[in-house]
Amino acid sequence: MPLLVRNGRIITATDDYRADIYAEGETISRIAPSIADADIAPGTEVIDAAGKYVFPGFIDPHVHIHLPFMGTNAKDDHASATKAALAGGTTTVIEMVCPSPTQEPMDAFNEWHNLAEPIACSDFTFHQAVVRFDDLAKSQLRELVANHGVASFKIFLAYMGAFDISDDNLFALLSMAKELGVITTAHCENAVAIDAMQKTLIDAGKTGPGFHEPSRPRQVEAEGVHHLCTFAELTGAHVYTVHTSCAAAVQRAVEARLRGVNVWIEAVAPHLVLDKTYAERSDFEGARYVMSPPLRDKCEQGALWNALHGGDVSTIGTDHAPFDFKGQKDMGKDAFTLIPNGIPSIQERIDLVHTFGVCEGRIDLKTMVSACSTRTAQIFGMYPKKGAIAVGSDADLVIYDPKFSGTFSHADSLSQVDYCGFEGMTRKGRADTVTLRGEIAAKQGKFVGTEGRGAYIKRAPTHF
Ligand code: URP
Ligand code: ZN
Ligand code: ZN
Repeated sequence: MPLLVRNGRIITATDDYRADIYAEGETISRIAPSIADADIAPGTEVIDAAGKYVFPGFIDPHVHIHLPFMGTNAKDDHASATKAALAGGTTTVIEMVCPSPTQEPMDAFNEWHNLAEPIACSDFTFHQAVVRFDDLAKSQLRELVANHGVASFKIFLAYMGAFDISDDNLFALLSMAKELGVITTAHCENAVAIDAMQKTLIDAGKTGPGFHEPSRPRQVEAEGVHHLCTFAELTGAHVYTVHTSCAAAVQRAVEARLRGVNVWIEAVAPHLVLDKTYAERSDFEGARYVMSPPLRDKCEQGALWNALHGGDVSTIGTDHAPFDFKGQKDMGKDAFTLIPNGIPSIQERIDLVHTFGVCEGRIDLKTMVSACSTRTAQIFGMYPKKGAIAVGSDADLVIYDPKFSGTFSHADSLSQVDYCGFEGMTRKGRADTVTLRGEIAAKQGKFVGTEGRGAYIKRAPTHF
């Protein structure tokens, strides 16, 4: 059914204006100051967006849905996570395919794709994590790039023995990524230093969740970023630091950029609004807030917002990694090193950025759109199909009510995880209506779309 969005204030990464938007099929076909009834097809769905913003569908560059990790598996499936995404205004997610070190890359890609394809409700695509780099893996990675729409890799410098990559493989992988034009996203923390510091703390009886941050302080992350950027400098590869949590890490990447390194920086919603005191909460309550890199001192939030405002940080994701408090986080009751890492936020991201970024005057609306949609589409090869409001772009639209006010609550969550990390915090704004390729998919926090309609977005390498 054709779709007409009338009377809205359209906000993109570059423009802020009033116009009507008409979509036929799955794409936008007309944008004009006023589109009359006489100019639309019979049966058109008309949405009155008076008093509301109209944003391009938001894109989350960093989510985990299927995630076998730390002896358990993340709680969402592709239906629940993508319904939550849509309810919060996110129309496309980029999930990390995270194989075990023994799994073949092609097998892992097929596993993730087969899980997502029948039930995903939003559009989706994948970063392919590289945890082995033997000859078989190399040829399968080439095949994934050539024929399966993979245009970004993921590596972990952390998580010793699970996902981490050795320096010789890092160098070889980045050389191949450069040749293929693939961007490599990276979790930057020094695995060896973390291992040593964890052992020292646990041996001293410092076992609670509040010791997670001291076991991987800012220097560990800054070193990881510098390490990645040095290898990128030597190989010419394009790299992207995920969930960058502190000024020191941002500085290392910016320094590298000044040396000519092609590096982009991602922040994630939990680091922008939560600080390490949450993980220090007594009676193991802090376990809800254990993620890596850890929540930091509050002053780091200001640095991240400023870096977004100034353009040094390009994107805001979530690192949605949903593990229940009961039955999963409590695996680490006796040692923080066993608490599954992650703070879910796939549904809350946009309202958190609007509430604590835009309404607090830290960033403007165009920067919000740029960081939460357009830059991700550009960096990861989806623009202008995604990340834009333009003729020919997918009709992924978020009609956003900036006057809505409430609080974040687990009661509103469509994710299957058993808590909301932002419970009780003030919430200003809400995605009133969300469209995915021309079809209404969410309304006022509820999923109203079609389960399984989410499409796999094939991408081509652009980072030569
Ligand atoms: O704590 C986190 N970030 N959990 C998910 C795995 C990762 O490092 O991205
Ligand atoms: Zn990570
Ligand atoms: Zn992650």
